[in-house]
Amino acid sequence: MKLDVVLGLQWGDEGKGKIVDVLAGQYPVVARFQGGPNAGHSLHFEGKGFVLRSIPSGIFRKDATNIVGNGVVLDPITFKGECENIAKTGVPVKDRIVIAKKAHLILPTHRLLDAANEAAMGKGKIGSTLKGIGPTYTDKISRNGLRVGDILAPDFKSRFEKLKNRHVRQLEQLGYECDPDAEEAAFMEAVEYLKEFRLIDCEYYVNETLKTKTMLAEGAQGSMLDVDYGSYPFVTSSSTICAGACTGLGVAPSQIGHVFGIFKAYCTRVGSGPFPTELFDETGERLRKLGNEFGAVTGRPRRCGWLDLVALKYTVMLNGVTDLIMMKSDCLDDFDTIKVCTSYRVDGQETSQVPFDTYAEIEPVYTEFKGWKADLTGCRKEEELPAEFKDYIRFMEEYLGVPIKIISLGPDREATIMR
Ligand code: IMO
Ligand code: MG
Repeated sequence: MKLDVVLGLQWGDEGKGKIVDVLAGQYPVVARFQGGPNAGHSLHFEGKGFVLRSIPSGIFRKDATNIVGNGVVLDPITFKGECENIAKTGVPVKDRIVIAKKAHLILPTHRLLDAANEAAMGKGKIGSTLKGIGPTYTDKISRNGLRVGDILAPDFKSRFEKLKNRHVRQLEQLGYECDPDAEEAAFMEAVEYLKEFRLIDCEYYVNETLKTKTMLAEGAQGSMLDVDYGSYPFVTSSSTICAGACTGLGVAPSQIGHVFGIFKAYCTRVGSGPFPTELFDETGERLRKLGNEFGAVTGRPRRCGWLDLVALKYTVMLNGVTDLIMMKSDCLDDFDTIKVCTSYRVDGQETSQVPFDTYAEIEPVYTEFKGWKADLTGCRKEEELPAEFKDYIRFMEEYLGVPIKIISLGPDREATIMR
């Protein structure tokens, strides 16, 4: 059977939580393969709302197993808080979640280092969520990290001390004043809590599962934040693209089935970095209000702008997207004119490629569409969609060369059209 992948094609916050929750009904196993609690995946159903950080979005489906894969970085403290919150609603979290032993642990000092690094960068800062993501992946790549499976080792405490002391020296070097021990007790308590979960050899578990079941891999962040292909250095520290699902779960590329690429009908970005179609005017403000574009993790107002098809075509290519999923077009219901960026002008030259230079001055070239000026939120069938909206969809499908298979018209599970 195949591993289908669902991932964000922009700068994160595309609505992955909702879609995984909707799709999870068809998948007995859902897995996160990268990122950590920098993610904030929002789910709404039966009048309730949840934001998931490290837990896969299949958690509310009765028969689904949820894997925290080895490409993930796990903060035991955040994870425990998240689990306890969900457990309160009667969800048996310990029966529904399994955790890869090879996933790396975020220590409290990783979070301090994140803050220290950002402070040291001053104006050039990344705008990190400060969850310790960058420093944890740094330790993984430099071969200093601690993994979930290590919590079972008799010398875990001393290995923790060794890594913590390394961090203390780095913090001192950065001149960052803090108490590195402040959260140690909470961390150790959360580590004990982790031991109550089934810790797995993810690569064996996943490949065994794929012999009889289809699985869904849930990406975090978005392709434009990918450490290799995003707007470096304004990126996150993991492989957010489809290939990351292979390394993050221990699955061969030939096992990948559908690649569901999610995008919003406009663009948002949190943190620093290039954003060619960003709007600094009333329209940007209007999008922020209509789309409630405030960070689910940090509460920061998101930067807003028109849809960027140049960037989208790039990420469709990187991921081999087979099915597109469009979110939040209902937020454009009231606009007289809707713009989409179809090429860039860089140094006076028009191009349909994303330039290497992160600091290049990019002028977006737009194609305009007549707004549909109708309330889409109640639509549940293709036939109910206005003609202008269908034209708009057809244009995007042609430009991107991939069909839009799902249209989401509101945060609730039910507000979804399958095509
Ligand atoms: P979900 O999964 C949007 C952004 C941060 C910052 C950069 C690096 O909810 O879509 P990091 O904390 O990873 O070192 O931050 O990446 N970022 C996100 N933006 N959605 C996310 O996750 C993000 N995770 C990280 O704002 O610019
Ligand atoms: Mg988010």
